[in-house]
Amino acid sequence: MTKKLTVTGIQKAKGATPLTMITAYDALFAKLFDPIADIILVGDSLNMSFAGKPDTLSTTLEQMIYHTQAVCSGAPGSFIIADMPFGTYMTKEKALKSAVRIFQQTQADAIKIEGGEEKVETVAYLVENGIAVCGHIGLLPQSVRSEGGYKVKGKDEAQAEQLIRDAKALEAAGVFCMVIEGVKADVATKVSQSVDVPLVGIGAGSSVDGQVLVFSDMLGLFEDFTPKFVKKYLNGANLVKEAVQNYKNEVQSRAFPDDMHTY
Ligand code: KIV
Repeated sequence: MTKKLTVTGIQKAKGATPLTMITAYDALFAKLFDPIADIILVGDSLNMSFAGKPDTLSTTLEQMIYHTQAVCSGAPGSFIIADMPFGTYMTKEKALKSAVRIFQQTQADAIKIEGGEEKVETVAYLVENGIAVCGHIGLLPQSVRSEGGYKVKGKDEAQAEQLIRDAKALEAAGVFCMVIEGVKADVATKVSQSVDVPLVGIGAGSSVDGQVLVFSDMLGLFEDFTPKFVKKYLNGANLVKEAVQNYKNEVQSRAFPDDMHTY
């Protein structure tokens, strides 16, 4: 069994072997990922892939706490980051209250909040108060309604410069790592070179310090849509459907349960 990563260990990953981060929302999958992944993210993406909602905005703090508790039970050997849901960090005081609830009610090692320069005061306040913070810059899923869709960032010079300012500001505020999402690869490379903390990419090319994917996307379980950056490492949906169809066929033909599965 490999040793559980720490904040310091993650910081040392800058420019070293890329970090592998994966989401999980329950103990069952977290247990499977525990010996392999470097970091497990309890993402508010659970609102879409687990709860079937159209975006992440209606995720509640209570849901995040419940799912983080489950993930922590399943993956005691992993560094676990819990997402702070939309509306739970609008002010620095509210952010601290929300983060303290996550830290007191779960075994999460860190929290993640979306935003760049505009979140600096909040990040610094959390860090001062003993909360390890992972930043999240670039495409921000919690801004999907205000931006009118999921918009790739870094498409022009102004956006590229803003991303570098965001990364530097978050670093100065004390984040130990950052997720960079939906950013043109050449720009993500420049952003990564502008800071000393590791950048974990999702749709940001391969030159950053790690990658994160939503587990239900990479296992091919989520069928509603597939973003360009998602690689399916398994055709999970087809495998599951085939298995359930086989089960139904055997129930209907009374082939199941057979002698081996009967008392
Ligand atoms: O909620 C989530 O799963 C995330 C990833 C997309 C990074 O924030």
